[in-house]
Amino acid sequence: MSKFEELVPEHVRALGAYTPGKPLRQAERESGVRMIKMASNENPLGPSPKALEAMRAVMTQVNLYPDNEVSQLRLRLAELHGVRPEQTVVTNGSTALLGVIARTLLRPGLNAITSERSFIIYPIATKAAGGRLIIVPMTNDSYDLDAIAAAIDGNTRIIFIANPNNPTGTMIDVPRMDAFLRQVPEHVIVILDEAYCDFATDFAAARSLEYSHSIDHVREERNLVVLRTFSKAHGLAGVRVGFGLGPAGLMQYFHRMRTTFSVTALAEAAALAALDDLEHFRKTIANNRRGAEFLTSKLREMGYRPIPTFTNFIFFDAGEDAAALSKRIQAQGVIVRPLGPWGIPTAVRVTIGTLEQNERFIAALSRATEKAEVR
Ligand SMILES: Cc1ncc(COP(=O)(O)O)c(C=O)c1O
Repeated sequence: MSKFEELVPEHVRALGAYTPGKPLRQAERESGVRMIKMASNENPLGPSPKALEAMRAVMTQVNLYPDNEVSQLRLRLAELHGVRPEQTVVTNGSTALLGVIARTLLRPGLNAITSERSFIIYPIATKAAGGRLIIVPMTNDSYDLDAIAAAIDGNTRIIFIANPNNPTGTMIDVPRMDAFLRQVPEHVIVILDEAYCDFATDFAAARSLEYSHSIDHVREERNLVVLRTFSKAHGLAGVRVGFGLGPAGLMQYFHRMRTTFSVTALAEAAALAALDDLEHFRKTIANNRRGAEFLTSKLREMGYRPIPTFTNFIFFDAGEDAAALSKRIQAQGVIVRPLGPWGIPTAVRVTIGTLEQNERFIAALSRATEKAEVR
């Protein structure tokens, strides 16, 4: 055992590293062609122009520390959701908040529960806090909520639910979620991760489904925390800003556990401006709906069975080694996400792009598989 292994606690040594989507420049170096990235569920229309303007305006003051309380944004989020500012917490991305929640509620001997094929940060956050993660199998590519309820024991403190789920793109509708929440005992906090809520609201309305009552539950101060992010529909993944809404008595501990000054003045200004940029938001949602329809029908024509999405990405089983297929797609100039790290070695996740990007992806996939693209 090296000196460092002796110093680092066992639960930290056991941590695996997060494998992010391939950075654009690295993929361009590897393939020697101009790339588009459809691997990390970012906004293909770019950041909101209003957010860019707001960031430019605060740039001259970055010699000063930001407001540690993120007061303006918290006030705005509280108003927007009809909750009290004490029920809000803002962090540098919702990924950071997942870490804060796990470190606040877990320790060795306690556990969290989630589903297989879900957001890859849940295991990392749980294990980094010294907790044990119980992973429950899926049914029909979606969370098996009955199995999750059955897995709860006296040492459970957290249930992580991504709704809609990444990477399958599936949604749990209101009747299923509410029936589940009624079964969860008082010693367990449900983390409802709604990173893709804006897309889900749109798809659910189009399919006559009801997406979520999560904010009503927050208003009732139930044992539940809703996570949202500015990284997806608002196009601010690079500035890192996300938030949580939950019971004030619990949120105060998350405030104490957050890294001080971790939300920058640029991030707060950008988020506030993005909330006001309804034009960019609506364009994003409309582009996503059109893109989902285009990609789903093209993939079906090619013989795949993509799962109907409630998000800004599409999951499909390629029926072959997805890592090798993704490399061939990358050679054609498109980066997608093979899902081997999720334990699904034949599945691919592709982010919905602009119309031009979606066409490029379909052309790249056709060439990579030598499947004729039906026009
Ligand atoms: C389910 C889910 N939650 C949270 C996030 C992370 O968002 P953020 O950029 O705010 O850390 C993602 C990003 O891909 C996600 O898929």
